[in-house]
Amino acid sequence: PIAALVEVGGVKIAKDDVVRESDPTNNVPDNIFSKIGLQLHRRDNHPIGILKNAIYDYFDTSYSSKFVKFDDLCPIVSVQQNFDEVLVPADHVSRSYNDTYYINADTVLRCHTSAHQAELLRDGHSYFLVTGDVYRRDSIDSTHYPVFHQMEGVRVFSPDEWEGSGADATSYAAMDLKKCLEGLARHLFGAVEMRWVDTYFPFTNPSFELEIYFQERWMEVLGCGVTEQEILSRNGRKDCVAWAFGLGLERLAMVLFDIPDIRLFWSTDQRFTSQFSEGKLGVKFKPFSKFPPCYKDVSFWISDSFTENNLCEVVRGIAGDLAEEVKLIDNFTNKKGMTSHCYRIAFRSMERSLTDDEINQLQWNVREAVQNKLHVTLR
Ligand code: PHE
Repeated sequence: PIAALVEVGGVKIAKDDVVRESDPTNNVPDNIFSKIGLQLHRRDNHPIGILKNAIYDYFDTSYSSKFVKFDDLCPIVSVQQNFDEVLVPADHVSRSYNDTYYINADTVLRCHTSAHQAELLRDGHSYFLVTGDVYRRDSIDSTHYPVFHQMEGVRVFSPDEWEGSGADATSYAAMDLKKCLEGLARHLFGAVEMRWVDTYFPFTNPSFELEIYFQERWMEVLGCGVTEQEILSRNGRKDCVAWAFGLGLERLAMVLFDIPDIRLFWSTDQRFTSQFSEGKLGVKFKPFSKFPPCYKDVSFWISDSFTENNLCEVVRGIAGDLAEEVKLIDNFTNKKGMTSHCYRIAFRSMERSLTDDEINQLQWNVREAVQNKLHVTLR
């Protein structure tokens, strides 16, 4: 199994189940591994790259090109960078193996671009944007995919900038942040209804989410806030105040380009890729087909260690991008205290119609893998 170990950026990654299962600290499956390095955000003709460039334009125009841009930082980072340096508490759920891809006990696939905040502050940057692929174990539906892209923005103020404004440093930064992001939303969407929602992040205080009203519902598009003083003082910016934001590029691109399913971003089908070109934000995607989904149910008695993320990983491992949605449709506990779950899996290709045989075979393989890997009892 030596050949199954691959090195990326000096870090050894297990490339197949055999190796992974012998190293319990590695939970990166093949289908995720194969996405590392694809860098959709660096393709000028891809919706993600087009959106990145449009956001760059906004910052270049509003801040006379002061923001330094990074879009090539390695997605393999230390636990320290991803969590400790942005003050994520030791017991925070995001650190769990159920939520984050670990390469080994000290190394992860970054789950957010905030992983680079501290090092860039230490390097002395006061205005920066970091764009990159991020990785999260999650459920399966049309807006969630285990690899997606974020852009992080950080702006540091020195005391002379807020002194004399009449506002205290924190309010000054919060006001500036909201003004900046409202401007960005208008730059991308034109006149759009938006609202601020208070929230919590370990690395900012106060923290906010920006939601925009789209297709008759409020959609969260970014998280942001005033950087925790601790992060600034640990990284050589003791007397300063700063704001930071992190936005999900897929979410925004789905809205701007009318892309109905997040899996399409990974499509190499010409009928998808040929519809987008450099500099053209918001050209509406014309679906080239609407193949019907096919639904299959699987029921089992769960074990204590069962999680929906693990199930989704197994389904994705078998069906790849043919898995469109995995949804819990029934859940009960019997008199003996055994709990049964029934999940409905939607299979659909974005590119072609699937045959009954093919789907039955997939479902058969899913059942087998669920049984073998998740320690559940099929019903
Ligand atoms: N890192 C946060 C996330 O991924 C977003 C964020 C970035 C929030 C910077 C505040 C400041 O959800």
